[in-house]
Amino acid sequence: MKRFLVIGASGTVGSELSKILQTMGLEVRKATSKQKTASDQVHVDLLTGKGVPEALNRIDGLFLMAPPGHVNQHEILNPVIDQAKAAGVRKIVLMTAMGANAIETAPFRQVEIKLEKSGVNYNIIRPNWFMQNFNTFWIQGILSAGKIFLPVEKAKGSFIDARDIAAVAAKLLTSDQRNNQDFDLTGDEALDHDQVAEILSKATGKKISYENISPAAMLEGLLQAGLGRPYSEFLLMILDFFRQGYAQRTTDSVKAILGRDPIRFEKYAQDYRTAWKG
Ligand SMILES: NC(=O)c1ccc[n+]([C@@H]2O[C@H](COP(=O)([O-])OP(=O)(O)OC[C@H]3O[C@@H](n4cnc5c(N)ncnc54)[C@H](OP(=O)(O)O)[C@@H]3O)[C@@H](O)[C@H]2O)c1
Repeated sequence: MKRFLVIGASGTVGSELSKILQTMGLEVRKATSKQKTASDQVHVDLLTGKGVPEALNRIDGLFLMAPPGHVNQHEILNPVIDQAKAAGVRKIVLMTAMGANAIETAPFRQVEIKLEKSGVNYNIIRPNWFMQNFNTFWIQGILSAGKIFLPVEKAKGSFIDARDIAAVAAKLLTSDQRNNQDFDLTGDEALDHDQVAEILSKATGKKISYENISPAAMLEGLLQAGLGRPYSEFLLMILDFFRQGYAQRTTDSVKAILGRDPIRFEKYAQDYRTAWKG
């Protein structure tokens, strides 16, 4: 396998995945829904389907994920699976999310089922909450108030570093050894948000603490940040799964696939510490 299409190539996971594949000497087509700014980019708008057939032309492997902000992932991604099959793509690695397979009718699960039944070689990866959320989605409270504001009480999460997700995706895309298997990807320890805040404080030298907020306050913050109501309510629902303890489980998938331990939260905090300098 030589030529890969990476959906979300400018995003947290896709940018790392593209780097890894290019370092391996493989050809990467980086999908973007924006104006192309580099010769290795291809224009793909998953919401309209524009550019999808061209981008899939003569591709060996596809990394597929849903852009955040939408709750109808099956409507966005299922047609791409059909088109990839028709184009003769040999392997698809689909990223959904840990817990996506809990309810068979859930939109993400509908995409997984579509892929499982497609006849195309595949892997499904279901990462837990990303460590990188603390330098992206949750950063505003840290920068403005030194606080992580979330409605998850003392629940723990086995956060995963997006660089590990990308490394796993690269391994699966470039090998047929584990074809047609699915993997829940987690870090190897579960932390609550007081522990996260303590690690971030140590790495930055700034006092960062966790404040539990009400679901209503969280929803208000998400809406004010410009997220649509359906996606905000979806985030609130999965944050409540976190609060109930569903994000605590650890798996050994990262180690089994990469042959090394997952990145620890301390290392993530060190590597990204300039993000929280403000
Ligand atoms: N964050 C978490 O804790 C977590 C946990 C588990 C699973 N996930 C899943 O991970 C995925 C997000 O991954 P990420 O954080 O790596 O992404 P990200 O950093 O949020 O980046 C989103 C990507 O989607 C692309 N995109 C946006 N609109 C598009 C469109 N209309 N057509 C094609 N591409 C489009 C963007 O590229 P352009 O702007 O260049 O178009 C960008 O590369 C979601 O499906 C989410 O459910 C997230």
